[in-house]
Amino acid sequence: MKTSDLTRRQAITAGVATVAVAILPGCDDKQVDTETNTSTDTQTATNTQTATNTQTATDTEDETNTKTNTATNTDETTDTNDCTSTSDNIEGPFYISDAPVRSNLDLYNDDGVPVTVSGKILDAACLPIANAVIEIWHADPEGAYDLTSDEMQYRGQIATNASGEYSFQTLVPGQYLNGSQYRPAHIHIKIWVNKTQRLTTQLYFEDDPYNDIDPFIEDDLIMTCPTDKDGTKTCQFDFVLT
Ligand SMILES: [Fe+2]
Repeated sequence: MKTSDLTRRQAITAGVATVAVAILPGCDDKQVDTETNTSTDTQTATNTQTATNTQTATDTEDETNTKTNTATNTDETTDTNDCTSTSDNIEGPFYISDAPVRSNLDLYNDDGVPVTVSGKILDAACLPIANAVIEIWHADPEGAYDLTSDEMQYRGQIATNASGEYSFQTLVPGQYLNGSQYRPAHIHIKIWVNKTQRLTTQLYFEDDPYNDIDPFIEDDLIMTCPTDKDGTKTCQFDFVLT
């Protein structure tokens, strides 16, 4: 274990096809029963477009997300998705803006299960959304969030390519105690389209024993992740924004 890991964990007491990257600015869900989370983010996204915007997001545990359809569509269609809106999910208190632009979050020589998550971002008509920005954050394999280091471990942001595709690599997050029970492994996700925050949610793993008791999980957010011969999980998940 590296010194930085120790420092971080001590501080925590209580990111398919080639994917274009964007430049954006980033649970102890332990407190979600009583907590109101407020975050103010200034984001600059650069992909095939350059834009600057200031966005303010205020989320509570009840997770009321404003969804404004400002999608940019390509000419492709996807006929394998029913285009049912992806459920939102609580943001939790561990979101940090300005995460590094990177699709590989497995950078710290931690022991864990490698996982690749890939898919598309689609609109209500099943049309892929290009240049959508996906922010990713999750606990390390031991269940701790990096809230202090300059590395911003297990945090990143990527953008969909012209076909609406995304992909990132990381390690399966650890479960962590939330009040009196453990939360299942989960990956936090926030999606922006045309400078508008469109979805805040979490992705879960189908084989997690804590899925059945988690108060926040939604069935449509549980990924199917077959394990390759080399032990890597490969998850496919399409987000539908309506
Ligand atoms: Fe969390």
